[in-house]
Amino acid sequence: MKIVTAYSGGLDTSVMIPWLSENNGAAEIIAYTGDLGQGEDLPAIKAKALNTGAKKAFVEDLQQRFVDDFIWPALKPGALYEGTYPLHTALGRPLLAQRLAEVAIAEGADAIAHGCTAKGNDQVRFEVTIRALAPQLKIMAPLREWELVTREMEVAYALERKIPIPVTAAKPYSIDRNLWGCAIECGEMENLWAEPPADAWQMTQDPTGAPSGSEELTIGFEAGIPVSLNGTPMNGVALIKELSDLACRYGIGRIDMVENRVVGLKSREVYEAPAATLLHLAHTELERICLDRATSNYKRRMSQDFANIIYEGLWFTPLRECLASFIDQSQAHVTGDVRLRISAGLAQVTGRRSPFSLYDEGLATYSHGDTFDRTMATGFMEIYGLSAKTVAMVRRRNGLPTAAREQVGI
Ligand code: ARG
Repeated sequence: MKIVTAYSGGLDTSVMIPWLSENNGAAEIIAYTGDLGQGEDLPAIKAKALNTGAKKAFVEDLQQRFVDDFIWPALKPGALYEGTYPLHTALGRPLLAQRLAEVAIAEGADAIAHGCTAKGNDQVRFEVTIRALAPQLKIMAPLREWELVTREMEVAYALERKIPIPVTAAKPYSIDRNLWGCAIECGEMENLWAEPPADAWQMTQDPTGAPSGSEELTIGFEAGIPVSLNGTPMNGVALIKELSDLACRYGIGRIDMVENRVVGLKSREVYEAPAATLLHLAHTELERICLDRATSNYKRRMSQDFANIIYEGLWFTPLRECLASFIDQSQAHVTGDVRLRISAGLAQVTGRRSPFSLYDEGLATYSHGDTFDRTMATGFMEIYGLSAKTVAMVRRRNGLPTAAREQVGI
């Protein structure tokens, strides 16, 4: 039997290599690691996989693909789960699962294994994707069934097989980091009232220790996609990294939230989303001038559906494809620049411009040069208020109060 397994180099997936082999008739294990910008030593991870018993180990740079095929398509709809979480983990999983499926097929493997727990959302994202892309493959989730139910048992199992224990195993947190952000769970934070400990934060400076001044930056967009920083064209990966460094220095992008997981439980999540915070802010602002009112309102409603689809592991589904077509169409003229000012813990919009801006200074101005014909408003008010006036007259005629306040006797 041949099994391709998702491999991060952490304790769980390291223990999985010998466990999968031992429990599947000395199966051949192929480890797969995708670089989504987690900032880890990838050659060391590859060597570790081989030392731990994998027959082969693939390590691939997926950053560009992650940005082009997942991050930008989530930025364009403004996808923030429950209005807040920029979905970095949720976006990375379908890409990893897609590559796992492709590698499994290319290697003639029988199964794919992942290291997700039974309580999390990540199992959903891996498994829906694999079922959508390679339904013939068996899926294995050792963490849902193995006898190593405590961390101590896993460590003992690893020591018996001379698997080096990652230093991070000493930390009480479960951390998932990539280009778009970082998620930190467990430890003291499971108590909702406890403030996240200072050492929980992985990327961002504490805002109280950020530089005291401020900095201005201009992000350029083309058809909804960020393409430049301060006038210099940049590719997506470089742009995100640069914005991330900048935002981290100022302590921007810290999020502490309780969210609803797919499996029905609530969980406390601490996130760092430095670049995502700046880019969502700037993109949303640019849309305010480039989209007409009806499209903008409609899109805002759709953005919640889009975020749910991503969160719930449904990236590779017909509905996501349909919504993405709408979103892409809506972005055709979301081109222009947004200027931000950043200071300790804060990012604020200070300017926006676009060749497709629907803002008309002549119509908006209260100074000279006003092109708005104020006489038009009188007739408009008559018609706009007509329905309300009709309701009031009918109510009065029937001896009813004209407003709910009177009805409930407030
Ligand atoms: N709650 C987030 C999500 O479901 C983050 C999960 C992070 N995973 C982790 N192993 N720390 O997308």
